[in-house]
Amino acid sequence: MTANGDKSSGLSRRDFLKISSIAASVPLVAGPKVIEVAGQEIAVHGPGAVPVTLRVNGKRFNAELEPRVTLLDALREHFEVTGPKRVCDRAECGACTVLIDDRLVYSCTTLAIEAQGKEIVTAEGLGGGERPHSVQLAFVNNDAQQCGFCTPGFTVATKSFLDRNPHSNDREIAHGLAGNLCRCGTYRGIHGVVAQMTGREPKGNAGTTMIASGATASSKGDA
Ligand code: FES
Ligand code: FES
Repeated sequence: MTANGDKSSGLSRRDFLKISSIAASVPLVAGPKVIEVAGQEIAVHGPGAVPVTLRVNGKRFNAELEPRVTLLDALREHFEVTGPKRVCDRAECGACTVLIDDRLVYSCTTLAIEAQGKEIVTAEGLGGGERPHSVQLAFVNNDAQQCGFCTPGFTVATKSFLDRNPHSNDREIAHGLAGNLCRCGTYRGIHGVVAQMTGREPKGNAGTTMIASGATASSKGDA
């Protein structure tokens, strides 16, 4: 809607202000309010905490969260699922990468309330402990981590990439993993992970060119 009340959205400026004032006056109680505006029912969440239920790595988690809480905050601060890391907090680095219904997502820029009713998978959900996922084992075998801060997000992204591209070439690997960044520069090792998982040897310095390929973090189209 534009400032002069363009009705292309179906709502006039007056309707919008009415919704805003109603939303602002909603008391701090749980559950969405449903209001009728211009003949449409609109759910108003918050501004206080509302019940949120998430399914993470096959388990159900419940909490009272304000609608503004991100999925990353919900996972780390409320559910103690700490695989996803906070680094940039602005959809640039991929450290917070998770899968939602098999799609790669930056959890730092996804609202927890939006992830309800979906299957969320973090690095913990891939495997671990005595039963690591083959991608996680390949990270170890290829020395593809140093501080390890980017590694959980990278393992999720790599697993998803391999699921979709089981026979990738170097350029596809570089492009497909460009949504995740490693400040320690372990790209050669990560490239080795993909090479191992696809049954071929990495070529020369292919791993060092993952960023220089021209692909950018935003090219992770489904993130
Ligand atoms: S912390 Fe989410 S993309 Fe960097
Ligand atoms: S291993 Fe340190 S940021 Fe990637």
